[in-house]
Amino acid sequence: MTTGSDITRLRAEFDQEIARVSSESDLQALRDKYLGRRNGLVTALMKSVASAPAELKPALGKLANALKQDLEGQLAERKGALEAGRGAVGAVDISLPGRKAPIGRRHPLTIVREQIEAIFTRMGYQVLEGPEIEDDYHNFEALNMPAEHPARDMQDTLYLDREVPGLGRPATLLRTHTSPMQIRYMESHEPPVRIIVPGKVYRRDDLDLTHTPMFQQVEGLVVGESITMADLKGTLTSFLHELFENRTKVLFRPSFFPYTEPSAEVFIGCVFCNATGCPVCKRTGWLEILGSGMVHPAVFEAVGYDPERYTGFAFGVGIERVALLKYGVEDIRLFYENDLRFLEQFPL
Ligand code: DAH
Repeated sequence: MTTGSDITRLRAEFDQEIARVSSESDLQALRDKYLGRRNGLVTALMKSVASAPAELKPALGKLANALKQDLEGQLAERKGALEAGRGAVGAVDISLPGRKAPIGRRHPLTIVREQIEAIFTRMGYQVLEGPEIEDDYHNFEALNMPAEHPARDMQDTLYLDREVPGLGRPATLLRTHTSPMQIRYMESHEPPVRIIVPGKVYRRDDLDLTHTPMFQQVEGLVVGESITMADLKGTLTSFLHELFENRTKVLFRPSFFPYTEPSAEVFIGCVFCNATGCPVCKRTGWLEILGSGMVHPAVFEAVGYDPERYTGFAFGVGIERVALLKYGVEDIRLFYENDLRFLEQFPL
């Protein structure tokens, strides 16, 4: 049976609990505990007063009503205080969960570039970069592509100056490939040479699934006294085995570049169909992955190396191209749109 001391005890408990309330959710829980329609302690108290003996009912009822009003008043007051504090400087709701600082990650093209650099660094190559603004001499001429050479049309060039009548062709351009760094390096270093040159290159291409006017390449150059085509094949085969899967088949096919002789295009077994033939590899089972060849004697002559004494090989690989194949991405433009939904899919 409910007594006056039950009511007093309930009030004392409530007073303790409300003193500990520090958030609006605490406050709501307290209201539910005491005044909840179904299981509230005061609600239960009111019900038991209703069934108390008739002579006690008026006094108990009065006490119980006073308690209920008191609690409601205190809850309302606390609510007002919390709301007022919410907007105030320095008012921190310490019951809120913390906010995680978002962790950044490497761009897929950075992942690929760093992997290529790591593979060649382990093989003893030096990694260096060159200028993106080049001159005609290093981008074409010294690479055995004199003025009017048809091979210049293989790459549509972005010039930075105009052809001046009487003064000849424009001379400053955005490099169309990383190959000019072969020339710059050999001009200032004696053999042996073992370098790779990652960097951005530019071409007059419209954006589509496989083209962007700016993309990235890694150039490679090795020069010594007895470098042969076998070194080229061995080096590029182990490179591709490490970059893709060890079982990847590698195919060398004769090709043409003005700065190498002989030249070879290198293919890997199609990663999309396991080399069985699909639309991506145009049913051939092979995907072109890089260009390479034995350095042309004319290039050695341009930099003052003795072509009778030195031989070497060179190669160029597209970073976007590798990333497209490695990650099965169908549209090269995704690499440059900064869409986090795309970028967050790559490993940290
Ligand atoms: N420069 C070529 C390109 O941009 C790639 C390349 C081919 C580089 C053969 C080389 C090479 O060093 O030997 O398509």
